[in-house]
Amino acid sequence: MAHVKAGAATTVVTHHLTKDYGEARVVDNLELKLKAGEIFGLLGPNGAGKTTTILMLLGLIEPTAGSIEVLGLDPSRHPLTVKRRVGYLPDAVGFYDGMTGWENLSFTAQLNRLGNGDVRINELLDEVGLAEARDQKAGTYSRGMKQRLGIADALLKDPDILILDEPTTAIDPEGVAEILTMIRRLAEERGVTVLLSSHLLHQVQAVCDRVAIFVRGKVVAQGAPAELASRGGGPEEVEFNTSSTDDKVRSALGQAGFVKKLEPARIRGNYVARIDRGSTNKLVSALVNGGVQLDGIRRTSDDLDEVYRRYFHMDDQGRD
Ligand SMILES: Nc1ncnc2c1ncn2[C@@H]1O[C@H](COP(=O)(O)OP(=O)(O)OP(=O)(O)O)[C@@H](O)[C@H]1O
Ligand SMILES: [Mg+2]
Repeated sequence: MAHVKAGAATTVVTHHLTKDYGEARVVDNLELKLKAGEIFGLLGPNGAGKTTTILMLLGLIEPTAGSIEVLGLDPSRHPLTVKRRVGYLPDAVGFYDGMTGWENLSFTAQLNRLGNGDVRINELLDEVGLAEARDQKAGTYSRGMKQRLGIADALLKDPDILILDEPTTAIDPEGVAEILTMIRRLAEERGVTVLLSSHLLHQVQAVCDRVAIFVRGKVVAQGAPAELASRGGGPEEVEFNTSSTDDKVRSALGQAGFVKKLEPARIRGNYVARIDRGSTNKLVSALVNGGVQLDGIRRTSDDLDEVYRRYFHMDDQGRD
């Protein structure tokens, strides 16, 4: 990470953080520790408690129990300071439709009494790729453009921490890649610490230095994506393509104990195999030794997806 802001060594720490709504425990003894300059993903299905956690970090709602430190401060005691140093993109970004992108940012700058507003606004619009749309009314922006305007808005006060609640939701895959690349660049160039939430692990895992998988208010796994995946241990899925006959494929793999399941894929000549983790080489050998003409092979589930599915009991929900 290029440069981390001075004095930002501790960023966000929660200890036994808990939130109840009536009888329901929505956040349950959450322990988080964000490192300065990292991109941290709070990942979990709908209703996991991600937004509730974020609102507590911002001092917008009170925890039932436990403690929070944001830049060394308790956000419920120092809401204004925290608000000044933490940029926030809410899950539903709201702008004044009748005002241009530029005017919307200018309005935020005035509300927050930010000096030097105009120069910064132009820089930021450029940084998020909205320079050309600056004089277009925000009501005519696409979702992706609004999301990018929201990120620019959150960056106006040059925050130490950026909290993005579902920054990629409802954006097409191309737009998602653009936004994630932008977040990565911002983290590296500005040294901001980023906390982002998402219910779409496969979208955001590549951009996160670390993730916490959050289910029903509890963190069930936490670490670097690669580290979590290697803890996985479950089977993996590969897809291969062959011009050999079905009989040949089945007899080549008939005795292979590491193949848990073999079925034809949608495309003719393609098969999906669930195999023991790490046995791709064995699969290739078995096919080749069995005289199968192997035309291609690729992993279809990347490892972390597997981890996620296990925790969420979800199959392909939420996929693009
Ligand atoms: N103000 C509230 N009063 C009562 N229950 C609430 C309130 N806010 C949230 N909840 C409940 O808390 C749980 C967690 O909600 P939260 O919005 O934090 O989840 P989330 O992980 O952000 O989900 P999503 O992916 O849908 O945004 C849900 O069951 C929700 O219904
Ligand atoms: Mg939410």
